[in-house]
Amino acid sequence: MERLQSCPPLAIRSGHDGWLIDESGRRYFDAISSWWVNILGHTNQRITAAIIEQANRLSHVMLGGCTHEPAVRLAERLAARTNHQLGHVFFASDGSSAVEIALKQCFHAKAIQGQGSKTLFACLRNSYHGETIGALSVTDVPLFQNAYRALLTDTLIVESPDSRDGNEDAALKALSNLLDERGNEIAALVIEPRVQCGGGMSMHSPEYLRKVRQMTRQHDVYLIADEIAVGCGRTGTFFAWEQVSKTDWPDIVLLSKGITGGNLPLSVVLSSEEIFQCFLSDDFTKGFLHSHSYTGNPLACAAANAVLDHFDEGLTDAIAQQAQYLSQAFDRFNGDSRVSPVRQCGMILAFEVNNSGNNFAERFHMQGRAHELLIRPIGNTVYLIPPYVLNQELAEFLANAVDQCLDKVLSGC
Ligand SMILES: Cc1ncc(COP(=O)(O)O)c(C=O)c1O
Repeated sequence: MERLQSCPPLAIRSGHDGWLIDESGRRYFDAISSWWVNILGHTNQRITAAIIEQANRLSHVMLGGCTHEPAVRLAERLAARTNHQLGHVFFASDGSSAVEIALKQCFHAKAIQGQGSKTLFACLRNSYHGETIGALSVTDVPLFQNAYRALLTDTLIVESPDSRDGNEDAALKALSNLLDERGNEIAALVIEPRVQCGGGMSMHSPEYLRKVRQMTRQHDVYLIADEIAVGCGRTGTFFAWEQVSKTDWPDIVLLSKGITGGNLPLSVVLSSEEIFQCFLSDDFTKGFLHSHSYTGNPLACAAANAVLDHFDEGLTDAIAQQAQYLSQAFDRFNGDSRVSPVRQCGMILAFEVNNSGNNFAERFHMQGRAHELLIRPIGNTVYLIPPYVLNQELAEFLANAVDQCLDKVLSGC
C-alpha cells in the first residue's frame, strides 16, 4: 500500500480488443493480457453474447447432484482435444484451486493404490503454481513464500531446465537422481510445460518434457502439467503439451486464465482414466471429495465454449502468424547491448535488461503507462504476453514503446 504513492492504480473504465481506456480517456495496450487471461482481448463480442444468452437461461446451479449442458459440452470438447487420454474433467474457479485439486487427486489415488508412502510432491526450481497453501508449497518463488514458510508442506525442488543456462541435461540428471533416491515418497511432479512463467519466463524444449514423462512413468510418479498460464494457445498449440506428444499425455493437465478469455473465473482439472478409476467406488473413503460453491458455473462454461469456438475455427493459425509479427518486430533487440538475447515461445516473448538498477520493474511499468503500454516486468525480465489480436502494426508499436521505455529507464528518467 505504501507503494501506491509512487505507483497509483490505473482506474480503467473500458476495454476493447487489446486496448484499455482509463477514466481520463487515456489508452494502454494490454501487453500482458491482464495477468495472461484476456487472450482474445477485452470485450470480445462473441464471448459476451454467449454469456448473455446463457444468463437468460441459467446463471448457476450447483454441480453437486446436478449437471448442465455448458459444462458437459466443455468437458467433452476439452477431452477430445487430448484424444480422450484425459477424459475426466473436474471444475473449479481459479488456477490455485485447480492445483490443490490435482495435488489431492494424486496423493489420494496413490494411497488407494496402496502407495500411502507417497506423501510428497516435487516441482522445478523457480516454479510458480499459485498462492493458496498447497499451491504455494509447490511454488519456488521466495518473495511469495517467505512470510508463510511455517504453513507450507515439505516439497522437493529439482533443478529447472532454464533455457538461459542451456542446462537441460543437467536438469534431467538432477531429476533422475531425485526419482532414484526418493521416487517411492513422491506422489507427483508438477511442472509448467515449455515456459515457467511466474519464475521469469524461462523456457525449455519439448524434448526435455518427453524425457520427464518417461522418467515419471518409470518411477510410478504422477505428472501434473500446469497449463494455467501456457495453455489455451499461448505457446502456439491449444495445449503446450501437444508439442511433446499427442498420444502420451501427463496424468493431469490444468487450465484456467485464458479458458474464458478473461471473462469469468474458471479452472479445469483434466485427469486420466487410471486416476478416475481409483475413485470409482461405493466406499466414501475412496471418493474424491472436493467441493467449491461455484464449481462449473454455467456462465463461465458458456464463455469457455465460446473461446473453444475460436480455436475450432483456426485460431492457432492466427496465433502462429501473430507470433511471427512479434518476433520480427523485436528482432531489433538481438545484439542490443542493453538486453540479453530475446527468447520466444509462441506468444510469450522475454528478455533480461542489463544494469537495470534499483526498482526496475516499477520504473519500467510507470514508463510503460507514459507510452500507452500496460506492462509489468518480473525483476529485470521484460516480457510480453499480448492478446491474440496483433497485426504487424501493433507488433511494431509494442517494440517501439518497449524501446522508448528502456531508453528512459536506463537513462535514469
Ligand atoms: C502456472 C500457474 N499456475 C497457477 C497459477 C495460479 O492461478 P490463480 O492466480 O488463478 O490462482 C498461476 C497464476 O499466475 C500460474 O501462472
